[in-house]
Amino acid sequence: MFELNLSEFTQEQFLRDYWQKKPVLIRQGFKNFVDPISADELAGLAMESEVESRLVYKKDGQWQAQFGPFDGYDHLGEQDWSLVVQALDNWSEEAAKMIEPFRFIPHWRLDDLMTSFATKGGSVGPHIDKYDVFICQGSGSRHWRVGNNGDHQEFSAHEVLLHVKPFDAIIDVEVNTGDILYIPPGFPHEGVSLNTSMSFSVGFRTTSTVSLFSGLADHLIDNELGEELIEDPQRSPITQSGEINQSDYQLIKAQLSQLLDNDDVVKQFIGCYMTKAKHELDLMPADEQLTADDISEILTTNSLMRLGGLRAFYFSDTVEQGLCYIDGNEYTFANNIAPAIKLLCDNVEITPEQLNQWYENTDFTQFICEQINAGYWYFAE
Ligand code: SIN
Ligand code: CO
Repeated sequence: MFELNLSEFTQEQFLRDYWQKKPVLIRQGFKNFVDPISADELAGLAMESEVESRLVYKKDGQWQAQFGPFDGYDHLGEQDWSLVVQALDNWSEEAAKMIEPFRFIPHWRLDDLMTSFATKGGSVGPHIDKYDVFICQGSGSRHWRVGNNGDHQEFSAHEVLLHVKPFDAIIDVEVNTGDILYIPPGFPHEGVSLNTSMSFSVGFRTTSTVSLFSGLADHLIDNELGEELIEDPQRSPITQSGEINQSDYQLIKAQLSQLLDNDDVVKQFIGCYMTKAKHELDLMPADEQLTADDISEILTTNSLMRLGGLRAFYFSDTVEQGLCYIDGNEYTFANNIAPAIKLLCDNVEITPEQLNQWYENTDFTQFICEQINAGYWYFAE
């Protein structure tokens, strides 16, 4: 439905010349683009407590931000405000389809589909993001300015709005329906709506060393791992007892390296960590628990759909050993179904044809039965 057209470059050229390097405007990246959700539907979603949303506007020249859920929007007037909804892919199957053309970048790097509705003059203000984003212009148009990366001064325009001081633009354009603006982390940018408009931002995530180590420490504690003690049975006497000498430093450092060299532990941690959802999932466990036999039958006629926003990954060796990672947890399975597990992790929708060698495999039907009953996968109507 959404076909990405990277205009004059191929995916390889885009990744080589722009990804994480410099911003670029891709005119008509989505040809014949139609908003996958209406402004009214978006406004309705922002009234739900599970949906993460915020309103940004100016009052008496001062930036204001309010977090949802909202009761109504009548107080906002005709212009100069915008409504931002995070993780629309978790709440709208149609909108989630916009992510599919970006699958030439692996899913572990993906964050969510953020949507913004803005009235004329609406903006979230000039700011810098820490992530890569493809801002896809839906209905209406916006004036976008993007500055170069480098030293920029940031300041709090409001308790929750970190803005950036005025910057010179390297991109200064009117962006229209179907145009895509790619912005890497660190480049200041500001979009101001020229009329009533919608935009859809496919955002990516990465992680810092400190977050990885802190996540690893939590993983070790939760799984009672890494409890080995430093041992030193081969000690020689020393004279400077206040020194941590070179060989002892190496001994302590080796304790850390040994853990990082243990691929079983590190892959388990990365699998669980990278599949954790940042935004609430629309989990609706089935009213009636299905059996593996029921599922075997339905798989012959209905496509299997992955819940919007669900993260499910594998490593090429773990999947062959019968291990994969879904929504922050490790799952085990009989390794004969590894190809079917890859189908689940690589695709959002799997057709009956793709599953025709699996629906009679009880290892697979039992595995997917547990997942469907938990609400992670469901059948297309
Ligand atoms: C917006 O769409 O209003 C803001 C998107 C962004 O700057 O990342
Ligand atoms: Co931004």
